[in-house]
Amino acid sequence: SALPPGARAAAPVPFGAAIQFNLFESDPDYRQSFLDRCDLILPMNELKFPMLRPTRDSFEFGPADQLVDWARANGRTSRGHTFVWHDGNPDWLERISDPVEAEMVLREHIQRTAGHFRGRLQSWDVVNEVIAHEPRESGGPLRDTWWRRTLGPRHIPIAFAEAARADPDARLVLNDYDLEFRGARYDARRRVALDLVRQLQDGGLRIDAVGIQGHLYSHFEIDPEAMARFGRDLKALGVGLLATEIDVIDFQVPGGPEEIDRAAETVVGDFLDGLFAGQRPEAVITWGLTDRYSWVGDTMPRTDGTPVRPLPLDAAYRPKRWYDLLRQRL
Ligand code: XIL
Repeated sequence: SALPPGARAAAPVPFGAAIQFNLFESDPDYRQSFLDRCDLILPMNELKFPMLRPTRDSFEFGPADQLVDWARANGRTSRGHTFVWHDGNPDWLERISDPVEAEMVLREHIQRTAGHFRGRLQSWDVVNEVIAHEPRESGGPLRDTWWRRTLGPRHIPIAFAEAARADPDARLVLNDYDLEFRGARYDARRRVALDLVRQLQDGGLRIDAVGIQGHLYSHFEIDPEAMARFGRDLKALGVGLLATEIDVIDFQVPGGPEEIDRAAETVVGDFLDGLFAGQRPEAVITWGLTDRYSWVGDTMPRTDGTPVRPLPLDAAYRPKRWYDLLRQRL
């Protein structure tokens, strides 16, 4: 029977954002803004190797425990980011050169970490950014990382196998960037992501979804048709899709706040067109919530000296138009 006007056929797609523990502790407005806006709240850095494993013998679960339990106590869900990444690994880890030892560390890391949070995280980014940034320079489709140099490409199936064992109920995600833009370089990245999914499946391993980070350069062009194809191809493999780290990188947009936000509205709108066209996403998540705090300003500042505007809420926690438009689509 027909649904009444405005009714939904299904529960809305959850909206989420990544939170930082130090600000969670020090800034009550920041903390509250996540409760005001999010269905899902995830630790931004607290589950990464450097924060969790400052030494080989330590597992610093405290900060992530606090964030995840606070989210849950407030009826929000959470997810895990991430076991395998190339960036910021502790020295003790990257000093290991024996593949047998590296494999032991990886398996133990995932067993202990996924085991500790079992039942509290709906999904895990099992591997993050393993696709080569420049395939020519890294000598193949995979990024040249300590993990690859030490363990070879099998560090990816090892991580998925161990994650499936340690938390059978969490959805296992391959997370990567530059999967939404137009051009041959991005077509190639989408192909590599699909190849990785197929290789895992051919090896009898479980992979539940691909995470498109969504760090959106507002001077780049999104390719919604290619995103739609990507989503359909994943669906045909029985694999889901979600946006995990949306923010807008605006250092190439001339003008002031209005021009910057208008460009952001276009790039986010095109991104969501492509995201929803292939299959229904499992979640739509931004990398932070307010312009007050973002890695974008630290790593990709604007050359005119004006502050970047990457996130759905401005520095005074006022929602931008693109936030309202985004919420209307979920
Ligand atoms: C970034 C955080 O936002 C920063 O606070 C931290 O210093 C470095 O990492 N892709 C990712 C994220 O997968 O983990 C990165 O997060 C941003 C790029």
